[in-house]
Amino acid sequence: NWSMDDFIDLQIEDIRAKVGDKKVLLGLSGGVDSSVVGVLLHKAIGDQLTCIFVDHGLLRKDEAKNVMESLSGKFGLNIVMVDASERFLGDLQGVTEPEEKRKIIGRDFIEVFNEEARKLDGIEFLAQGTLYTDVVESGTDTAQTIKSHHNVGGLPEDLQFQLIEPLRSLFKDEARELGEKLGMPSNLVWRQPFPGPGLAIRVLGEVTPEKLEIVRESDAILREEIKKAGLDRDIWQYFTILPGIKSVGVMGDGRTYDYTVAIRAVTSVDGMTADFARIPWDVMQAISVRIVNEVNRVNRIVYDVTSKPPSTVEWE
Ligand code: XMP
Repeated sequence: NWSMDDFIDLQIEDIRAKVGDKKVLLGLSGGVDSSVVGVLLHKAIGDQLTCIFVDHGLLRKDEAKNVMESLSGKFGLNIVMVDASERFLGDLQGVTEPEEKRKIIGRDFIEVFNEEARKLDGIEFLAQGTLYTDVVESGTDTAQTIKSHHNVGGLPEDLQFQLIEPLRSLFKDEARELGEKLGMPSNLVWRQPFPGPGLAIRVLGEVTPEKLEIVRESDAILREEIKKAGLDRDIWQYFTILPGIKSVGVMGDGRTYDYTVAIRAVTSVDGMTADFARIPWDVMQAISVRIVNEVNRVNRIVYDVTSKPPSTVEWE
C-alpha cells in the first residue's frame, strides 16, 4: 500500500541517515526534477544543503527570478545564484551549428558549476534529480546525452562527491505528485519541459541579444495566452522560435521588413513522438495579435503544423 506520504517519510529518513552532519550540493536548473529534490532535501537536512543555480542567460522571461522567489523566498533554500549570461553569450558569438551550440553551453555550464562548487567548503554529497526514465534510458537520445552534460559526468578529480538521487525510482508524474505533496506551487510543479540549452536552440543560427529578446518576449506572451485559455495542461510543450527570416509587412502607411516568429505547440506523452496541438483559432489570433503588437521587429506569425516524426519538437 504505497503512498507518496510514506515515500516522503522514507526518503527523509534515508537522506538523514546517509548525510549525517555533512553538506550536500545541488545544481538547480529551474526544472521540476531538481526543484523537487531541492525542497525534499531541505526538508530533510535544512541548511546542510547548498544549491547552485547557473543563469546562462538563455532562460525564459522571469524564470530565474521566479525560481529564486519560490525556492529561496518561500521554501528558504540556500541558493547561490550565478549570473553567467555574458560568458555564455560571448562564447556563442558567431556559432551557428545546433550541436556546436549545445556543446558550448554544456561545457560552459559544467565549468561555471565547478568554479562555484570549488568555492564551497566541506561538501561531501552531490544531489541530482535523476528520474527512473533517466536511469533506464541509454545515452543515445539527444536530450539524454545533453542532460548528462549537466550531470556528474564532467566532474573533475578534485570535486568527487557521493551521489544522492532520491527520485531514482520515480516517473515524471510521480515527481510532480511528490512536489505537490511537498507544498510546491503548481506553476513550478506542472511546468512544461524546457531544454538545457534553453532559448539558444530556439533562435536558429547565431544567438544575439536582440534575437534572444524577441524569442523571450514572444514566448512569454504565448505562455500567458495559453494559460488564459486554460490549455496549459493539455499541451505538452509550447514555445516560439525565431527562424531568422525577414519578410515584408505593412504598418500604418509604411512598409515594414521584419522578423517572422514561429509558434510550436505539441501534444505528446513522452516527447519521443508528438503531434501539433489543435489550438482554437481565436486563441491563435489573440496570440498573433499580441506578439506582433508588443514585440519589436516582428511582423508575421506562422504555426508549425508538423508532427514528430518527421519533424522534431525543437527546431534545432
Ligand atoms: P526533440 O526536438 O528532439 O525534443 O523532438 C524532444 C524533447 O527533448 C527536449 N530537448 C532537449 N532537452 N537538451 C535538453 O535537455 C537538449 O539539447 C534538448 N533538445 C531537445 C525538447 O525540448 C523536447 O522536450
